[in-house]
Amino acid sequence: MEVLIPAERIQTRVAELASEIARDYAGTPVTVVGILTGCLVFTADLIRHINLPLRVAFVTASSYRGMVTLPGKLEIRDELLPDITGRHILLLDDILDTGKTLTRVVAHLIDKGAASVKVGVLLRKMGRQEVPFEPDYVGFTIPDKFVVGYGLDFNDEYRHLPYVGVLPSAG
Ligand code: IMP
Ligand code: MG
Repeated sequence: MEVLIPAERIQTRVAELASEIARDYAGTPVTVVGILTGCLVFTADLIRHINLPLRVAFVTASSYRGMVTLPGKLEIRDELLPDITGRHILLLDDILDTGKTLTRVVAHLIDKGAASVKVGVLLRKMGRQEVPFEPDYVGFTIPDKFVVGYGLDFNDEYRHLPYVGVLPSAG
């Protein structure tokens, strides 16, 4: 596997993002909401560096891209989400690709009564975005390749890798 971003670089960058986040929120309590399952490793590492009063929650977003019957349909499940009325949300995902997932989940959280929603992604893929969307925090900008590791999967595999790599067959 070709290593695109080594584990040490990810760790350094995640700690930097956490400092930026703590500085921006300036003591305001925040609810971190991760989009499962890709957010798992990023969320776990990031929150341990964020020096703020903090809660953690999760939602699930499944897209059905590629299925002819349901083009672009996205299902958001929020059974694991507590009452977020009036809370400041930091939404986390592994990667910003077309932007559809994050756009939809942000709208959903605002609908649920969030006071504010900011967005952090580990990766942003170049040249893929289909809807205008600006994340507040970006770990790394990457070329248009299919990547795995550090939470990102191919067929639900490779999420546990400590680095971000390019799949030889899918790259
Ligand atoms: P979007 O709605 O197109 O922005 O899709 C974002 C979702 O697509 C992410 O949460 C990932 O689950 C998935 N995804 C996009 N690109 C990749 C990739 O290169 N590797 C693994 N998953 C990806
Ligand atoms: Mg995902």
